[in-house]
Amino acid sequence: MTQIPAATRRLTIDAIRAMKGGAEPIVMVTAYDFSTAQVAERAGVDLVLVGDSAAMVVLGYETTRLVTIEEMLMLTRAVRRGAPSSLVIGDLPYQSYESSNALAIATAQRFADAGCDAVKMEGAGATVERARAVIAAGIPVMGHVGLTPQQTGDPEGFRVHGKTASAALEIIAAARQLDAAGCFSIVAEAMPAAVARVLTPCVSVPVIGIGAGVDTDGQVLVFHDLVGLYDAHVPRYVKRYAELKASMIDAVARYAADVRARRFPGPEHVYRMDPAELEKLNEKVKR
Ligand code: KIV
Repeated sequence: MTQIPAATRRLTIDAIRAMKGGAEPIVMVTAYDFSTAQVAERAGVDLVLVGDSAAMVVLGYETTRLVTIEEMLMLTRAVRRGAPSSLVIGDLPYQSYESSNALAIATAQRFADAGCDAVKMEGAGATVERARAVIAAGIPVMGHVGLTPQQTGDPEGFRVHGKTASAALEIIAAARQLDAAGCFSIVAEAMPAAVARVLTPCVSVPVIGIGAGVDTDGQVLVFHDLVGLYDAHVPRYVKRYAELKASMIDAVARYAADVRARRFPGPEHVYRMDPAELEKLNEKVKR
């Protein structure tokens, strides 16, 4: 049986920064509601990300672009209720921050009000300026380079980034800009392990990989991927630690069979009544 940490520690942003290059990698997982957040916190992860992957794995949209700020805020509040002691990061959804610093700060503030300790923004370019503004407004920011699903749009276009030297250099330049802007950590998604290995020491803050090999400062997986709840698209980098969808279907199918055969509810599931009261009731109903 895996050892579960006895007490949950709420890590600070400075504590995460200090884990750069440390012996123990940072563990991040996504969560989207009260129950998944409780699971993440009780399992003792370091960071909980309310990812906009919720669009696909929770809300059933075809791309992450379709989730709204209101939907993300509702999920974020539920995550905070389920993980009161965790460092929670909110993923700013598509078109909720890109167009101006004022918009980025206003949206980040709504996520902070919903319980986030930090927010995540995708890409470099204009995002670097937005990240700098949000950090100056007092809200810590996590960057995100490599595959950035909001910019790619269609999941059919999700592919490995940085496969040539020049493409890899662009990723490293983007990460350096986000580091210089003050981001406290950077997600590196879908790139050759060798690129992430070169990238990680190029920035002063922790690099948290997903599909980026083992040599980053930490790892993140989508909750539904790691527990086997989402099967529409399973990337090569996902390791499944459980097959919950199969066991949930089996559980509900067994319930349905029990109901149809009148095996459920059993005697142990029913409330009892005082026999004298029951007799009185029957008398009254007969009359
Ligand atoms: O939305 C998400 O789940 C993410 C992670 C893959 C980093 O951005």
